[in-house]
Amino acid sequence: MRAVGVITYGGPEALEIVDVPEQHAGPGEVRLRVSAAAVNPTDTLARNGSRVEAQKVDPPPYVPGMDAAGVVDEIGPEVATGITIGDSVMAMVVPRGAHGAYRESLVLKARSVVPAPAGFSLVEACTLPMNGLTATLSLELLGLERGQVLAVTGGAGAYGGYMIELGKAAGLRVISDASERDMALVENLGADIVVPRGDDFSQKVRNHFPDGVDGLADGAVLNELAIDSVRDGGSFTSVRGFSASDVRDINFTATFVSTLDGDFEKLDGLRQHAENGTVTLRVADTYPAAQASEAHTRLEAGGTRGRCVIIF
Ligand SMILES: NC(=O)c1ccc[n+]([C@@H]2O[C@H](COP(=O)([O-])OP(=O)(O)OC[C@H]3O[C@@H](n4cnc5c(N)ncnc54)[C@H](OP(=O)(O)O)[C@@H]3O)[C@@H](O)[C@H]2O)c1
Repeated sequence: MRAVGVITYGGPEALEIVDVPEQHAGPGEVRLRVSAAAVNPTDTLARNGSRVEAQKVDPPPYVPGMDAAGVVDEIGPEVATGITIGDSVMAMVVPRGAHGAYRESLVLKARSVVPAPAGFSLVEACTLPMNGLTATLSLELLGLERGQVLAVTGGAGAYGGYMIELGKAAGLRVISDASERDMALVENLGADIVVPRGDDFSQKVRNHFPDGVDGLADGAVLNELAIDSVRDGGSFTSVRGFSASDVRDINFTATFVSTLDGDFEKLDGLRQHAENGTVTLRVADTYPAAQASEAHTRLEAGGTRGRCVIIF
């Protein structure tokens, strides 16, 4: 059975078609015939060896990928989510060893798999689960109330875009940064204020909110550079574990999406958000599995809007 993975860590060229054993759905599990897998920044870390500590418990090949969409072709016993064989579905995958989304057949716990949003292709659907759940978790961790102000860095990105859209849906005022060419995109995602990106992000935010914002979601990983955008007593959530809680009275949290693995209700909530137009599913391009390395090269070059998607 075909997958895209690495046997030896390296650059995009290290990705190759690998053969992995076929698996069957056990109790509480379903199997997907995967059609589409989105390419995310974290996949490049799984490919280049940055995750070696977590991966070395298993022998190669290592198969990256946290987002899959496809059709259910096997259901194990004790599955009570209402999914049936033949359903079009989407899922978040927490990769381990050869268990990643870049494979044509994938067994997952049933609660990680929800119906794909109606009216969207499977290519579009696979762009939603992981980053949508990450933004959902960040909003929970920030703990903001309607009318409060959310700042987002990297607003044109997959995570940042969902932060803006879900933040607006939660009744927040949103300020985001963007490059010159992404200004209109970020405005269209719903940001109330868009400032040019740069190392002076905090100052630009303070020009609009002199006391600082109530919460910050740091999708561009500005870390220290973004701290002063947050007011005293505000909250800062990092997607890469950054914290500086000794600096000021700010509630730093780490957004790690794997904590929502198997949260059927939250993932299904994202399906509904897609269907009612609250979130936008953005695809940059599709790549046949044999050309997955091109998708990684493109992602790492920066500036890609929407997700590159590997198709099987
Ligand atoms: N912890 C978790 O569970 C979790 C889950 C999901 C994502 N993440 C992390 O979240 C981050 C964002 O993911 P993503 O998928 O949204 O990435 P993405 O789609 O590549 O978006 C990142 C955005 O930030 C912009 N950016 C990069 N450097 C910047 C800078 N110095 N100043 C301002 N903007 C900058 C990028 O613009 P250009 O492309 O033009 O450079 C892009 O618009 C990644 O680090 C990812 O690994 C973590």
